[in-house]
Amino acid sequence: MEVIITRDYDEMSWVAAQIIRRQLIRKPDSVLGLATGSTPLGTYKEMIRMHREEGLDFSKVTTFNLDEYLGLPPTHPQSYHHFMQENLFKHINIHPGRIFIPNGMAEDIDSHCRWYEEQIKKAGGIDLQLLGIGSDGHIAFNEPGSSLGSRTRLKTLTESTIRDNARFFERAEDVPHFAITMGVGTIFEAREILLIAGGEEKAAVCAEFIEGPVTARVTASMLQLHPIVKVVLDEAAASQLKQAGYYCWVQQQKQKLVGMPSQVSFLRRPVSKK
Ligand code: PGA
Repeated sequence: MEVIITRDYDEMSWVAAQIIRRQLIRKPDSVLGLATGSTPLGTYKEMIRMHREEGLDFSKVTTFNLDEYLGLPPTHPQSYHHFMQENLFKHINIHPGRIFIPNGMAEDIDSHCRWYEEQIKKAGGIDLQLLGIGSDGHIAFNEPGSSLGSRTRLKTLTESTIRDNARFFERAEDVPHFAITMGVGTIFEAREILLIAGGEEKAAVCAEFIEGPVTARVTASMLQLHPIVKVVLDEAAASQLKQAGYYCWVQQQKQKLVGMPSQVSFLRRPVSKK
């Protein structure tokens, strides 16, 4: 796991967008796994800026979103379909036929989940998966106790996730209690993983999943077993990491390797940006 500690939310978002940009330059027909929630908003904003100002091209990209609430139609303002449309897709040149998001209105949920997994395979698998993390340690909606080998399926949300997500809904009782979500096993098959987290409220869970044991209690901890993971945190989210000094040292040392083909420095955000 490569842990990159940034100054603040804006820098975290910038670094994440740079990693995605690098992926698209390396492979213009990349398959991206995308996330919702408040954390990726800044990353998406920066991707839109790179598309508009630098011509970053999404025309050959395929995307798979992690999850969708059960029972919300794509037009519902709190559906993840709507979120993605408003916060990313309608601002970039992605082909609508290459956008995949689980259907929260699917009649036969099990066969829809199997179909979703098949589409990921047909697309050649996910090249780069963007993730946030819930305060209970979930990735996608893989709540504590989820099988670490799980596939796309229906999940019951925990009360803490329902509480966390109530801020997006008019009334707490409007928050769906179920979602269709990629499994931990599905996510684990992505070739590269990029997890972002910001804010003090994520500090404890970040320390747990990065430095604690691998456990289904904190499904993000499974990422410790994945060969290529970047975790981009702001200072607040990194504040309980025991090894923070070492992670910063690693990033500083890597500056010396800039110029070598496989090395990219992520600590060079242009000063004019902020
Ligand atoms: P957040 O959600 O980005 O809104 O904090 C993250 C998550 O629940 O995965």
